[in-house]
Amino acid sequence: MSFRIRQFEKTDFDTLWQIDQACFDPQLAYSRPELAFYMRRPGAFTLVAEGEGSNVPGFVVAEARRKIGHIITIDVVQEARRTGVGKALLEAAEQRLFAAGAATVALETPVNNEAAIRFYKQQGYFVEKTVAGYYSGGLDALVMTKELVGSPAGQAAPRD
Ligand SMILES: CC(C)(COP(=O)(O)OP(=O)(O)OC[C@H]1O[C@@H](n2cnc3c(N)ncnc32)[C@H](O)[C@@H]1OP(=O)(O)O)[C@@H](O)C(=O)NCCC(=O)NCCS
Repeated sequence: MSFRIRQFEKTDFDTLWQIDQACFDPQLAYSRPELAFYMRRPGAFTLVAEGEGSNVPGFVVAEARRKIGHIITIDVVQEARRTGVGKALLEAAEQRLFAAGAATVALETPVNNEAAIRFYKQQGYFVEKTVAGYYSGGLDALVMTKELVGSPAGQAAPRD
C-alpha cells in the first residue's frame, strides 16, 4: 500500500474523528471535543497517513512533554492494518518527539488490546507498569515506554 505521512490539516478533523470512532469501543473512543482537546494541547501534534486519492488510512496524535514524549493515540482503519501504516506513523512521531528533545516515549494501552501490545512490543516498547482503572469503565492500562537513544526513532546511527 502506498502512502505518505504528512502534517494534519484542519479539514482532516472529521475524518480522523470517524476513524477513531471505528477503531475503539464507544467507552474508549474520543468525543469530538476530547479529540480536539488532545490535538490542541501544548506540545501536541498530529500526523496523518495519506494514501492514493487523498484516502486517509490512519493518524497519530502525540505530545512532547520535555524529556518524555507521549503517544496519545494511533489509529489505523481496519482495511489498512498490517500494511505498515501504523509503524510509519509511530516512527514519524518518534522522530518528531526526538527532535523536540524527548529521550523516552511513553503511552498507555488497554490491557486487553492484544494487537496494540504486540504492535508496540514489535516497535521496541516495553511494559513499564499497569495502572488499575485507568480507563472509563474501570479497564486497566499498561504503560509502555521506549528509550530514544542515539538517533531519531531509536535507530542505529549510520557509521559514516
Ligand atoms: C495497533 C495498530 C495501530 C497497528 O497498526 P498497523 O498499521 O496494523 O501496524 P503495522 O502494519 O505497521 O504493523 C507492524 C508490526 O506490528 C505487529 N502487529 C501489528 N498488528 C498486529 C496484530 N494485530 N497482531 C500481532 N502483531 C501485530 C506486527 O509485527 C507487524 O508487522 P507484520 O505485519 O510484518 O507482522 C492498529 O491495529 C490499530 O489502529 N488498532 C486499533 C486502534 C488501536 O488499538 N490503537 C492503539 C491505541 S493504544
